[in-house]
Amino acid sequence: MSILDTINQLKKERDAVILAHYYVNDEVQAIADYVGDSFYLSKVAATVEAKTILFCGVSFMGESAKILNPEKTVIMPDMAADCPMAHMADIGKIKQVREEYKDVAVVCYINSTAELKTYSDVCVTSSNALKIVKALPNQHIFFIPDEHLGRYVASQAPDKHFIFNDGFCHVHKEITPESVARTKKAHPGAEVLAHPECTMEVTAQADYVGSTSGIIDYATKSSAEEFIICTELGVLYELKSKNPGKKFYPAGDAQCCPDMKLITLEKVADALKQMTNTVEMEEEMRLRANKPLERMLELGS
Ligand code: 13P
Ligand code: SF4
Repeated sequence: MSILDTINQLKKERDAVILAHYYVNDEVQAIADYVGDSFYLSKVAATVEAKTILFCGVSFMGESAKILNPEKTVIMPDMAADCPMAHMADIGKIKQVREEYKDVAVVCYINSTAELKTYSDVCVTSSNALKIVKALPNQHIFFIPDEHLGRYVASQAPDKHFIFNDGFCHVHKEITPESVARTKKAHPGAEVLAHPECTMEVTAQADYVGSTSGIIDYATKSSAEEFIICTELGVLYELKSKNPGKKFYPAGDAQCCPDMKLITLEKVADALKQMTNTVEMEEEMRLRANKPLERMLELGS
């Protein structure tokens, strides 16, 4: 039996649905039931009816699915696939900022551990962060863990006061303003599309800044024929399948998330067969982490 037949058969036996982020390997995106950005996938995870959710992504994604839908069995193809940025905030610092600014809202990027979420007021993703920050009544915003998304949102919401944290995504940080300028010189007619996890020096050169879904939608609707891509290159799979006539150029040399690339078809099949890679969490922590996620779904939709 082929690996695809095995996966399909196991999916039926386990009553499983497969969710995948745009950064995982092409062949994994190809077999998923739902592929999307973090916000879309969290909405799917909150409402999906199958008994089992197989999440092809990194740990915070599986954790968020479990927090939002505790009745489901959530499994991961590789439990080692983790987002380093998800750990880059300090609980002591959150407490200190709360002491200093009484009306502060702790705004937590969904790329964060469940524990960090429990100390936060609301979660955001790159596609809804600005909308949610603007909707908050608070004047002071402590944005964790990503400094760059925080700075981008702050640049679009000048009436709020932001406190930044020093977390970052190593994949997006490696896209330098010099390499974007160089690629632009080589392809002067191309539009620059950047994820807001990039530095401000990179987003300043972009024609469009948005989430992975935003980038794909923008390129699909644009009348331009060429694009410079400033995000992880897993998005090329969807970009090329939706736009076979258009050209896409990477802005940097190392736009690859090694954690997302840990997910393979073999691990998908194995996770469905073994059913041991389950996401588990103390109920007390789940309930506390659920509050900012539910608030995100409410304010972000
Ligand atoms: P989005 O898909 O929400 O744009 O997020 C990018 C990301 O880094 C996920 O890990
Ligand atoms: Fe984390 Fe960056 Fe990988 Fe996204 S691309 S999972 S933010 S390390």
